[in-house]
Amino acid sequence: MSQQSAPSRYPFTMPSGWFAVAESPDLDVGQSKAAYYFDSHLVLWRDETGTAHVSDAFCPHLGAHLGHGGTVEGCEIKCPFHGWKFDAEGTNTDIPYSERTNGRAQIRVYPVLERNGFIYAWYHPHGEAPAWEVTEVAEIDGGEFSGPKRTNHLVQVGIQEMAENAVDSAHFRYVHNTAEVPVIEKYESDGHVATMESSQKFPTPRGVVNGRIDSIADGPGVSIIRFSGIIDTLLVSASTPIDANTTQTRFNFYVRSMGDDKLNSSVGAAFAAEVDKQFKEDMPIWEHKAHLVRPALADNDGPFMKFRKWYAQFYVDAIIDDRTVFPPPYWPEKMDETPAKATASAKHGTSTD
Ligand code: FES
Ligand SMILES: [Fe+2]
Repeated sequence: MSQQSAPSRYPFTMPSGWFAVAESPDLDVGQSKAAYYFDSHLVLWRDETGTAHVSDAFCPHLGAHLGHGGTVEGCEIKCPFHGWKFDAEGTNTDIPYSERTNGRAQIRVYPVLERNGFIYAWYHPHGEAPAWEVTEVAEIDGGEFSGPKRTNHLVQVGIQEMAENAVDSAHFRYVHNTAEVPVIEKYESDGHVATMESSQKFPTPRGVVNGRIDSIADGPGVSIIRFSGIIDTLLVSASTPIDANTTQTRFNFYVRSMGDDKLNSSVGAAFAAEVDKQFKEDMPIWEHKAHLVRPALADNDGPFMKFRKWYAQFYVDAIIDDRTVFPPPYWPEKMDETPAKATASAKHGTSTD
């Protein structure tokens, strides 16, 4: 069964790749729950051996949502409406009031990979098999880092438009009001992986500390960002398209252990609070900005076009549209929204008044 697609406000659809659909602690053994990603109603369930499964939500019999009352029995999920059962491949295995199963009653299932604290599902618009695996983040189980501190955000922006923020070094000064901006030293891509190395000066009460921010985009929806300089911190981030115009981002923050749980968790909380604050500062910009196919860039802006070229590989179906400006919808209820840092950026001479 294919589900309806909301029209994209961008010149692209939803990318193909691995995307987090849940965090591991949020799905118990024997639990099923409803989710909505990839513009599709989904059910997530964990079988009695502990393996997580993701499939389309609707029972092929008469359309009940398996995430609302579906029960896990062994390694099968049972529909709440008439008790039909389906296995991990989405095949009908039992109709309790019939001698035979129904071979046509097949549910679309998504490949699942559970690691780094996340349940990742592979999305491909035509159901093709995964082209890579999500990399395991060594620090998580290495014993030297503590965490995670978890946060999550829902934004009215397409996933690529949000991800582009990573290569935009200049906005840190104007949106986030940071005294120093990261200097991008290297931006490279190799297949589905893009790596960026940058340095940043951090002002501290004891003087300026030279720090580093090194990030790996492991496909279109997973990034690992390592911050060093003051305290080593790690951000395992996952962004998932709800539809072409809406994205959910989950952050897991880790800090290098300092031997004291209380200290670790307060440093982790401060780190999370700063990144979350910046994320919220970005949100109104992302939600209200137009996507410009040909942005007018400064010579020392970040590698925007390299980023876009790298990201383009994840689109399977092209959108044919000659426009060069893709505005957001008209949202009357959001007309008065102003980025939090509008006055702060005036300090830096960007105000026109
Ligand atoms: S709708 Fe699922 S068993 Fe009937
Ligand atoms: Fe930002």
